[in-house]
Parts: sequence; C-alpha cells; structure tokens
Amino acid sequence: MMHARHPSRRPRLTACLVALALLLPAMALAGGDPDAGRTKAQACASCHGADGNATNPQFPRLAGQYESYLLHALRQYKSNARKNPIMNGMVANLSEQDLKDLAAWFSSQKGLHDTPAADE
Ligand code: HEC
Repeated sequence: MMHARHPSRRPRLTACLVALALLLPAMALAGGDPDAGRTKAQACASCHGADGNATNPQFPRLAGQYESYLLHALRQYKSNARKNPIMNGMVANLSEQDLKDLAAWFSSQKGLHDTPAADE
C-alpha cells in the first residue's frame, strides 16, 4: 500500500503534455512579434514612416493594414512574385520571422482603419 501509485496522475500529465504539444506549434505559427518588429521597422521608416503612416503618397501606408496582407506582400517581394526594385531589395536579406514581426508591428499601428473616408 505504501508504494501504491496514484492512478489519476499519469493520465492528467499526459493530457497536459498533449495540450502543450498542440499549443506550441500554433503559437509558433501565429509568429509575429510587434515589439521585435518595431526595431526592425527602423529600416523602413524613411519611406513608410516609423509607424507606417507614410506622409509621402509615393509610399503606401502600412499602419493598420491587415497583418495577413502585409505578410503576403512581403513574402511576394521576397520570392520576386511581386516585383519592385526597392522592396525586392529591402526584404532580400530578411528572414521569415523578420517578415512576420514587421507585419505584426505595422498592422498594430493606428492607420488605415482610422483614416476618414476620402469624401469626408
Ligand atoms: C526607399 C523607400 C522604401 C523603403 C526603405 C521601404 N519601402 Fe516598402 N515600399 C516602397 C515602395 C515604393 C512601395 C510600393 C512598391 C510597389 O508598388 O509594389 C513599397 C511597398 C511596400 C509594401 C506593400 C504595401 C501594399 O499596400 O501593398 C509593404 C508591405 C512594404 N513596402 C513594407 C516595407 C517594409 C517592412 C520595409 C522595411 C523592411 C520597407 N517597406 C522599406 C518603398 C520603400
């Protein structure tokens, strides 16, 4: 009796590990870290503005854009599926994580969704 194990412990631990194993890849997929993106975005500030609110209409506004759209655009520049000499060069040496962090940073800024409609 002294050496009896608590039968309920192991299944609970197993369930916990299974939950963790399911959760970790999901977290890794979510990926983008806006704080890390803020630092990386310094390279983009001269054209897109520090927070993605470009003041020069020559450069698209990134602030408040959908994160998935930004990530898609950056991946397309990286793969050369979308061609622009400036942007192809900008992302050439960036990692997939860099792209995710940048997309997370710019999409979390106030911008597009707060901009009044053009006819207001
Ligand atoms: C020298 C100026 C310049 C710099 C620096 C620059 N960009 Fe751009 N960016 C542009 C221009 C010009 C375009 C529009 C290109 C096109 O028509 O595809 C653009 C387009 C984009 C787009 C697509 C926007 C959309 O609405 O489709 C994203 C996303 C983007 N840039 C992110 C970045 C990021 C992130 C950085 C920093 C790593 C950066 N840019 C640095 C000039 C710049």
